[in-house]
Amino acid sequence: MTPASPTEVQELMERQRAPLNTPTDLTDEATRDVSGAMNALLADVFALYLKTKNFHWHLSGPHFRDYHLLFDEQADQLLAMTDDIAERVRKIGRPTIKSVGHISRLQRSWTTTRSTSTRRICWPNCARTTRRWRAACARRTAFARSTATSRPPA
Ligand SMILES: [Fe+2]
Repeated sequence: MTPASPTEVQELMERQRAPLNTPTDLTDEATRDVSGAMNALLADVFALYLKTKNFHWHLSGPHFRDYHLLFDEQADQLLAMTDDIAERVRKIGRPTIKSVGHISRLQRSWTTTRSTSTRRICWPNCARTTRRWRAACARRTAFARSTATSRPPA
């Protein structure tokens, strides 16, 4: 492989900085808001995927086989969603999730710190969990919006 000439390097750098050519009727602000919400959703789906696999791998009890298969099927469906969500963000010219750390910063799902037997999957206090989840959801969505990269004007 021959090394790139200075002109070729310059062209590559310019192409790297160039905005995506993704025509949309949405305003710049709208694409930022939509991508922020979609990226938060994408992070949630990845987090829920891993949580579902956690249940699949670690559950025990009298209905082991049924739940084991159910969680695996759900995990497959969650993983299948991720590509469509990410590509919708790219379609409006915005960046999407790039790393596990990025998922960790954006995801709004609660953390499971307990052992995950089938009996503990249902939360004992759903109302409190829902309030906590909604508060975390609002914080993560605001963070995702505030960190969305501004797209250069067309
Ligand atoms: Fe499995």
